[in-house]
Amino acid sequence: MKVIVAENYEEMSRKAFEVMAEVVKNNPRAVLGLATGSTPIGLYKNMIEDHEKNGTSYREIKTVNLDEYAGLDYSSDQSYVYFMRHNLFDHIDIDLKNTNIENGKAADRAAECARYNALLDELPRDIQVLGIGSNGHIAFNEPGTPFGSVTHIVDLTESTIKDNSRMFASIDEVPRQAFTMGLKNIMQSKKILILANGANKAKAVYGLVKGEVTENVPASILQLHPDCTLVCDKAAASLL
Ligand code: PGA
Repeated sequence: MKVIVAENYEEMSRKAFEVMAEVVKNNPRAVLGLATGSTPIGLYKNMIEDHEKNGTSYREIKTVNLDEYAGLDYSSDQSYVYFMRHNLFDHIDIDLKNTNIENGKAADRAAECARYNALLDELPRDIQVLGIGSNGHIAFNEPGTPFGSVTHIVDLTESTIKDNSRMFASIDEVPRQAFTMGLKNIMQSKKILILANGANKAKAVYGLVKGEVTENVPASILQLHPDCTLVCDKAAASLL
């Protein structure tokens, strides 16, 4: 795994953008795997700025997102589809028809997982952006998720519900379930770009880079990926 340690969040976001920009420049029809959460917002800001200043186009780009809360859709500003439009898609020239995310409101959740897995098979990703949870999760693959997992419904752990409650009016409003790409789907991306900032991620980052490869730390599977880059700030790298 390539590890890039940045001084701070701004530098982390800039360096992550450099990795992303190379993929988009080399292939204007690339498939980008994208993530939500606080961590990649700076990367998306850099992409928007570059689009505005340098005219980098996303017209032919396709995207697939990692996960979505079960029960939420664009009508909820805590949904991940809302997040993606607000933080990226509304500010670049991407065709929304080329963007994909699980349908949180799907009536038949098993059928929605099957639809998404088929879609992922059709759209091999050139790069997958990831954040990491303080418990070592990637997407909503919580500790104990099988490495062979594909898109499925998960019961969120108490620690994830607590971490994510800052986005909601109260902890009771955080959905208890989510759709998530599985670890096998994530590993199928040609390139992985994982980002982490802040001291509360230091333990998870240690597990990602130096810990045992174990399903108890889902991110540790990335040690087995042939082209994975971690970009993190000093605080998140403090245990390495
Ligand atoms: P965060 O979430 O970027 O909001 O810290 C990361 C994650 O839980 O994967």
